[in-house]
Amino acid sequence: MKLADRLSKIKPSQTMEITAKAKALKAEGIDIVGFGAGEPDFDTPDFVKDAAKKALDEGKTKYTDAPGLPELRDTLVEYYRRTENLEYSRKEAIFSMGGKHSLYNIFQALLSDGDQVIIPSPYWVSYPDQVLLAGGTPVILKTREEDGFRFKPEAIEKLITSDTKAIVVNSPSNPSGAVYDNATLAGICEVAVKRKIFVIWDEVYKDIYYGSGRLRSLPRYNSEVKPYTLICGGLSKNFSMTGWRIGWTLGDEAVVKAMSMIQGQSTSNPVSFAQYGAMAALKRGPTHIDGWLTQFRARKDALLEAFKRIDGMSCVEPEGAFYVFPNISGWYGKSWEGKKLENCYDVTKFLLEKARVAVVPGDPFGHPDNIRISYALGMDELVKGIKRIDVAVRELQ
Ligand SMILES: Cc1ncc(COP(=O)(O)O)c(C=O)c1O
Repeated sequence: MKLADRLSKIKPSQTMEITAKAKALKAEGIDIVGFGAGEPDFDTPDFVKDAAKKALDEGKTKYTDAPGLPELRDTLVEYYRRTENLEYSRKEAIFSMGGKHSLYNIFQALLSDGDQVIIPSPYWVSYPDQVLLAGGTPVILKTREEDGFRFKPEAIEKLITSDTKAIVVNSPSNPSGAVYDNATLAGICEVAVKRKIFVIWDEVYKDIYYGSGRLRSLPRYNSEVKPYTLICGGLSKNFSMTGWRIGWTLGDEAVVKAMSMIQGQSTSNPVSFAQYGAMAALKRGPTHIDGWLTQFRARKDALLEAFKRIDGMSCVEPEGAFYVFPNISGWYGKSWEGKKLENCYDVTKFLLEKARVAVVPGDPFGHPDNIRISYALGMDELVKGIKRIDVAVRELQ
């Protein structure tokens, strides 16, 4: 059977594959430490679950408007007014089935064949493939470890052509945890306004930040960029609601209307009772986050300390999200059980089979000399995993 041509442009999500592989090994009874997860290990807060249960009990189990319940969109608008002092209207707000779906719909709504989207690397694995599926061309802006995986706004200007439609900015970043400073964000805004390109501002990790104060949405840095910004957020990471599939977009009314039409002809609304849970979450806000941050910070620090003692590893300190993205090219050329490590895939295999820890190779994030380690796991497991890596690496020849 011949499947659609467009499938030849994309590949399966490697982050989901490694998680599935580790789960399968665990199911066989093999003790694997899972450093692959893209989701917090904490439970969804009870008050959110209660709101969804109540909705179920009250029979709120039917279709809703495709872009989400009007009262949920109003709650989102109020949330951004309260927390960001940003004004949006209901028509500029749409809920989708997770941030991933929001981004998918954004690219489908924005891109015509050949339109270019600038994507700084390392990038979240789905951006390039979603752009390709929409007929667009990803243009990768490579950042360097020595710059903390950050780019300078001038670098964007150099890549802009008459076909450039948008740039994706993800801060804090998955996989590097990098956070852009205020001056850089102001510079990005200036370029976007001057060159009239959209900024797809992925802030799904906004609340998971280890610096002082809170991170802000892009239009806070320059009000002129607001019409060019598509804010993409969600509750997967800050409320540990990955399975609920709730994400949103705020921005240009015409883009939101187009996304709503696409959604109306594909998935329709996000799950009705999940929307009621989301409404409770947004009304209260992530009041639990400081407690989570304390635990994430301790795990991050433990990992960074351990990496200093393991030969051949170097790591930029992340400022947000719950990943570290160490460079492991120092292990290349060494062997285990007669097998030589030549790239990040070999390293991932070595760590899974020899050390019994699951990590994600850096290549699908655009940086083949790195691996992504998620610290969304308990401290005991994390310490066990670090020890295993240390022992396995000492045995490399
Ligand atoms: C950078 C980034 N954006 C968006 C998402 C989408 O998350 P979800 O679809 O669960 O809301 C993820 C999930 O891993 C992510 O890492």
